[in-house]
Amino acid sequence: MAEHRLRWLGHSAWQLETGEFRVLIDPFLSGNPVACVAASDLQPTHILVSHGHGDHVGDTVELAVRTGATVVANYEICEWLTAKGVKNTHAMNLGGGHDFPFGRVKMTIAHHSSMLPDGSDGGCPGGFLLRLSDGRKIYYAGDTALFYDMLLIGQVGLDVAILPIGDNYTMGPADALRAVELLRPKLVLPCHYNTWPPIAQDAEEWIKDVRQLGKTNALALRVGDTHVLA
Ligand code: NI
Ligand code: MN
Repeated sequence: MAEHRLRWLGHSAWQLETGEFRVLIDPFLSGNPVACVAASDLQPTHILVSHGHGDHVGDTVELAVRTGATVVANYEICEWLTAKGVKNTHAMNLGGGHDFPFGRVKMTIAHHSSMLPDGSDGGCPGGFLLRLSDGRKIYYAGDTALFYDMLLIGQVGLDVAILPIGDNYTMGPADALRAVELLRPKLVLPCHYNTWPPIAQDAEEWIKDVRQLGKTNALALRVGDTHVLA
């Protein structure tokens, strides 16, 4: 099997290295009090943006303009990025999938909102289901409440699920635990917590609760840590 590297950049920002590709997800780095890297240090080939909020769009414009990375997002966000000078966008919408050089991306539902930082319509919020070159599957939930269709998403057999646990703006630890029961991934990685006081959480406690379910491993990465799917 191929090796894939998942690095938590802080908050909901991740970098997936797979083959020769570097895929950034929700690259909010400037103004992120816990970010472990500066946007200027990254060289993405692709950027996935789950919804329009500033803590997810983040540095997408600067990154995409500088590197020429292809941004994958919903139609409204792609239009907004194009107007800001981003040359390469790939617009999708909920339920749709597309084969990219690094793997297949399907846009999944998320129960949230999506207004862009300047008040523009950010379309529907989403998440991403990734199927990598060797068939392994990663589900990035984005910002969302718990929803029962997670059961359907999990039926594909997830290797990794990346879930928000911060509460207040998204599901909190209790609902994220129920999400794990629906998704049944081999491994769950929590994010979207401890960035600011309203989303402070004890991730180690949550990890213990997940492991007690008995079917899913869980890791509370430190910001900057890389998990290798070998
Ligand atoms: Ni949000
Ligand atoms: Mn958010």
